[in-house]
Formats: sequence, C-alpha cells, structure tokens
Amino acid sequence: MGYGLLKGKKGIISGALDENSIAWKAALKAKEEGAEIILTNAPIAMRMGEINKLAEMCDAKIVAADATDVADLEKLYREAMDTFGGGVDFVLHSIGMSPNIRKGKEYGDLNYDWYMKSIDVSALSFHKFMAVAEKLDAINEWGSVVGLSYIAAQRTFSFYTDMADAKAVLESIGRSYGYRYGKAKNVRVNTISQSPTKTTAGTGIGGFNAFYEYAEKMSPLGNASAEDCANYIISLFSDYTRMVTMQNLFHDGGYSMTGISAEVLDMITPGE
Ligand code: NAI
Repeated sequence: MGYGLLKGKKGIISGALDENSIAWKAALKAKEEGAEIILTNAPIAMRMGEINKLAEMCDAKIVAADATDVADLEKLYREAMDTFGGGVDFVLHSIGMSPNIRKGKEYGDLNYDWYMKSIDVSALSFHKFMAVAEKLDAINEWGSVVGLSYIAAQRTFSFYTDMADAKAVLESIGRSYGYRYGKAKNVRVNTISQSPTKTTAGTGIGGFNAFYEYAEKMSPLGNASAEDCANYIISLFSDYTRMVTMQNLFHDGGYSMTGISAEVLDMITPGE
C-alpha cells in the first residue's frame, strides 16, 4: 500500500531490464505511489521481452530509445508529452554499461572505442536526457531528475575500471545540469550512489560476489537493496525533496562513512 506520494505526477523510467533491475522496482513503486509512467529501454534490451510484463503491471506504455541517440530521446519525450498531454514531473536515468568490463579488460589495457562507449552510454546519455528535455520543454516546473551512481566515482575500486570514470562524469553532469535546470525551471537533478546490488549490470563486474559480501560487512546497516533504492528514488521524485538538488546522495547503509568495521577487522585478524 502506497502513501500517494506521487499522486498526479507523470514520469519516465529508463533501465528496467528484468525484475532485478533497480528501475524495475522504481517503476512498481512509482505506480504504487500514484504516478503514471512511461518505460523506456534500448531496443536491443527489449528482445528479452521482460519489460512487457512490467508495462502490464504498471499500466504503462513502452517507448524504445537508445539513450546515446538524441533522435531517439526526442521521440521518447514527444511520445511522453502526447500520452500525458503535457510535460513530465520526473525522469529516472538508470542506465550503465561497459564493454571493457564485459570483456574483462583491465584498467591499463582498455579498448578505447569501448571506453568511449562506456562513457557515452553510462554518463553522456544523462546529459542527453536533460538537454533534449530542456529543448523540448518536456519537464515541468519543480520536476525531478535522478541518475544512479557508484562510490567508485570518488574512491578507487580496482574491478570497476572505466565505469569509475563514467560515474565521475555522470555525477559532474548532475551538478552542472542541476544548476542550469534549476535556474531555468526549478527542476532538480541528483545522483544516488547506491550499494552493490545483485542486478545484471552489478553482477557483470568481476569479483562482484566477494565485494558484495565485503560491503555488507563494512556497512552498519548492511547493503541497501534495489527495493530500498527504489524507495529513495520515489522520495526524490516526491514534493518532500523539492529543495534538494545538485547532490550525489549516498544510499549505502553507511558504507561511505565507515573506515573499517569490527566484522572486517575480525576477518583479517580472527580472535584478536
Ligand atoms: P540493469 O542491468 O538491470 O540495468 C542497466 C540498464 O541499462 C539495462 O536496462 C540496460 O538495458 C540499460 N542500457 C544499457 N545500454 C543502454 C542504452 N544504450 N540505452 C538505453 N538503456 C541502456 O542493472 P542496474 O544495477 O539496475 O543498473 C541501473 C543503474 O544503477 C546503472 O547506472 C548502474 O551503474 C547503477 N548502479 C548499479 C549498482 C549495482 O551494483 N547493480 C551499484 C551502483 C549503481
């Protein structure tokens, strides 16, 4: 049972690939909280067909769009505006992909074409989502845009390779566009820096399982789940966070502020 936090609001949710996706949970929550939504994903990701199930559950239209393609994004916003009879109130960017990670390339041996692809898909697409919306005036006054990040933007995690750079760019775009869109239309822009989460994008990263357990032991509250993340996303779409903008918000059970935990100390020197 929802609280009606998004009653009357309309939005676009990208990145729901399957039921593990953070965006999948966010779409269900948005619906539960009273929003009307449009789902979008890359045409290639639709082949699995899973998104159709979600669309049915959310009573939502699906518009295919490659997030790196400005023309696709224009079509997405135009369709959204036609469907809703006006602009949207929120946009979720939940998109990330690194061919270098997929192919197991080390940071010192990156394929540069793939590196560009990682940055384009995982970071520049966030800029495109907002620049296209601004040009079409597709986001309403006091709207909210959220992107998803990871703490490798600030601190080095060896296995995260070029995605760390992509996330640093993503967070910077969040700040820069947050300023611009705030001035122009009171639209706020934030990134959420999420705990490691068992999704297709997450588990594709080398050493994910070990790292997931490590983060779990380092965080006083444990890892934040995809569902917890969805709840946080909804709060950022709601009117209760109207003055929060240009922030990178850690949603990680306390991981980012913990030096070392008793559990991890005990693993290194058991019984001491
Ligand atoms: P996911 O694999 O379910 O979602 C990633 C989505 O990106 C997929 O739906 C995929 O189709 C979409 N995508 C890839 N290329 C695209 C393109 N060219 N155009 C449009 N969509 C495209 O995984 P997850 O974990 O839900 O990822 C969502 C976001 O959360 C990503 O930005 C990811 O980096 C971020 N994140 C994930 C964490 C994790 O451990 N899973 C931790 C912190 C952040």
